[in-house]
Amino acid sequence: AGSVADFKVADLSLADFGRREIKLAEHEMPGLMALREEFGPQQPLAGKKIAGSLHMTVQTAVLIETLSALGADVRWASCNIFSTQDHAAAAVVAGPEGSADDPKGSSVFAWKGETLEEYWWCIEQLLTWPDGSGPNSIVDDGGDATLLVHLGAEYEAAAAVPEGLPSDAEEHLIVLDVLRRSLADNPGKYTEMAKFITGVTEETTNGVNRLYRLARDGKLLFTGINVNDSVTKSKFDNKYGIRHSLIDGINRGTDVMIAGKLAVICGYGDVGKGAVASLRGQGARVVVTEADPICALQAAMDGLKVVTLDEVVSSGDIFITTTGNRDIIMADHMAGMKHNAIVGNVGHFDNEIDMAGLAKVPGIRKTEIKPQVHEWAFPDGHSIIVLSEGRLLNLGNATGHPSFVMSCSFANQTLAQISLYDPDQVYGLDVYTLPKYLDEKVARLHLPALDAHLTTLTKVQADYIGVEVSGPFKPDHYRY
Ligand code: NAI
Repeated sequence: AGSVADFKVADLSLADFGRREIKLAEHEMPGLMALREEFGPQQPLAGKKIAGSLHMTVQTAVLIETLSALGADVRWASCNIFSTQDHAAAAVVAGPEGSADDPKGSSVFAWKGETLEEYWWCIEQLLTWPDGSGPNSIVDDGGDATLLVHLGAEYEAAAAVPEGLPSDAEEHLIVLDVLRRSLADNPGKYTEMAKFITGVTEETTNGVNRLYRLARDGKLLFTGINVNDSVTKSKFDNKYGIRHSLIDGINRGTDVMIAGKLAVICGYGDVGKGAVASLRGQGARVVVTEADPICALQAAMDGLKVVTLDEVVSSGDIFITTTGNRDIIMADHMAGMKHNAIVGNVGHFDNEIDMAGLAKVPGIRKTEIKPQVHEWAFPDGHSIIVLSEGRLLNLGNATGHPSFVMSCSFANQTLAQISLYDPDQVYGLDVYTLPKYLDEKVARLHLPALDAHLTTLTKVQADYIGVEVSGPFKPDHYRY
């Protein structure tokens, strides 16, 4: 590798620290390391320009270096203003063979505590190589990079403000400004860019929802691969990942004793199930809100009280949103909470908690306890504690999911990127999930590290249940 042409991180001198943690993470990411070994010699991503918009953490560093090891030319940005680990970002720029003084890694545009304006600037840099060209594929988490390309192309085609700009008023104007500048300086930039993009591999529930909507409306400009709904992603990262990192965020943010407290989890999907396990593990009394009767029944049969938020707003001690939906905890709710109730979100976007409404409460006072922990004092004298300003607290107050579970997610990402360039794969303008044999492969790669021993079916047994001895072991409609 040569020297890194362009990048922007907080402090390149953190690279050695980052590298030491990346080394530890590699040991905990057997899926990614196995894929390096398997595909390294073939270089299936040789010369492909991959733009990644995904939390710039130590674990993501191992993904980036895996894509590079398979031949890709990678640029990266974070998909959240608070989620970057600055030492990881520095180490990726330095690269495994370079150093802070002689960086030889990948171009990263990410630091912890970006403004929204800086965030979208980073996404623009992500999508533009120094020679002016764009990516061949995108790794996305939440779909902001994909969104910008689609909004840009739509704006260029119609010269009218496209639908689908972020709903937050400030962010709306920032993205519109990005589009206007681009149209003035380089008309046709995003239309042209989209033509060279083979596809996007999308990491999370919210981003996947965006992709299906674009496909449904006939607006999708390139193939989407839904990584989230690989079983080895959503049933592991969303659930076991949150079980680990939610409690980590609450502890680092507040250090409050959780045992015995009343915790309210909004949403009992994959993330909600992990969140409940996280707080129950600490001895909290946990209740759940749900809109979907199936998930509500699951919660009830898991022994949880299913309530509406209004029923518990004045008795809850800890409130966590996990819905991927908007307007879950509103300013009025927070006005009625106990003194020093903790409010946080682990859904992808920051509109689950009505932060804008909170700021507008007459006479409210906001005090920073420390970065990403704020006390909001209401005029009646009671306060609440908001974590990460309503954004993903497991990444804002802690360091996100641990390496091992991210190895499952990122092995899916790597296989999805390889599959986009596989000449034998024919993809259209639609959204696809990876085939089950790859899902099972990802799981298989992680079993030895946990000393898990698989039972091998006999031929008679395999025939009896109608599968091959080597799998796949379930039909596609099986739900796990
Ligand atoms: P999911 O669709 O499995 O679960 C969301 C649940 O919320 C659904 O069961 C839905 O019925 C429920 N819900 C929707 N509106 C509601 C309302 N008004 N009140 C109560 N419940 C409501 O989605 P999943 O996979 O659990 O993801 C949830 C969010 O977490 C998404 O935004 C996803 O992108 C994000 N995510 C965050 C991670 C992190 O590290 N913080 C990791 C993985 C996903």
